Amino acid sequence: MKISVVGAGNVGATAAQYIAEREFARELILLDLAEGIPEGKALDLAQASPVDRFDTRVSGTSDSGSLSGSDIVVVTAGLARKPGMTRDDLLTTNAEIVGSVCERVRETAPDAIVIVVTNPLDAMAYVALKVTEFSPARVVGMAGILDSARFRYFIADELNVSVEDVTAFVLGGHGDSMVPLPRYSSVAGIPLSELLDEAVIERLVERTRNGGAEIVAHLKTGSAFYAPASAIAEMVAAIVRDKKRILPCAAWLTGQYGVQDLFMGVPVKLGASGVEEIIEIGLTPDERNAFHSSAEAVRSSVGKLNF
Ligand code: 2OP
Repeated sequence: MKISVVGAGNVGATAAQYIAEREFARELILLDLAEGIPEGKALDLAQASPVDRFDTRVSGTSDSGSLSGSDIVVVTAGLARKPGMTRDDLLTTNAEIVGSVCERVRETAPDAIVIVVTNPLDAMAYVALKVTEFSPARVVGMAGILDSARFRYFIADELNVSVEDVTAFVLGGHGDSMVPLPRYSSVAGIPLSELLDEAVIERLVERTRNGGAEIVAHLKTGSAFYAPASAIAEMVAAIVRDKKRILPCAAWLTGQYGVQDLFMGVPVKLGASGVEEIIEIGLTPDERNAFHSSAEAVRSSVGKLNF
């Protein structure tokens, strides 16, 4: 198993750390054009291996030929948001970066599963699919696990219960119109509505929608990376161990949920073949409307692309 992480910024480097520590692959490549950064971070991470006891061989490089033969490529390369920016403000620049990475992936790692992380996520997954020309099962976007993790954390914090007992789903695009689904959220199987009143749930939903921006506002020079990296590691684990986890991920829709030819966050079965199934859950008219508004927001971003 060979895994490559493209982009040695905070998200990429932290994801590389989790992937290496958990020994998801024998070989891990950290690739970035900023010469010296991937080499330095990879060497530093490799030097942690005797202490943390992992045998993943980590190397850093600026040579995109190193992607060759990767089983999984995680694409985090691109600019991050600054305060006041929406994810869509990054569209054109990041589309060029993701496009050129994906051309190399197509040439050198034709059998890889591509996990797209760069924002605006759903549009970048679209770029990755078009440029690699891979089957849609092998192009998947990371966002739903992150957004759901934020919602789960806020619920656990509000109720003062273990995060382990909180399940929650956030679907739709990874943007301001994302669709948290309190109706599918529970604490040890107890529906959320039994534990929290509507106004509190709405407050947590709103905080989830702004979860990324809240962190950007604190950091000022960058955006979240621990939780995004954890979410990436969970997807990698599901693929390398063929776990067939049911996770919210951005997947290519071909009519599911009434949406055609767009990546949107939906529950998928994630295993060794990538997105092995898209699961359609019942939505109320309000939830369906919210999902469709989110799809329109994603469609409008994709419409500005030349892919
Ligand atoms: C986030 O939600 C940056 O989109 C990323 O934190």
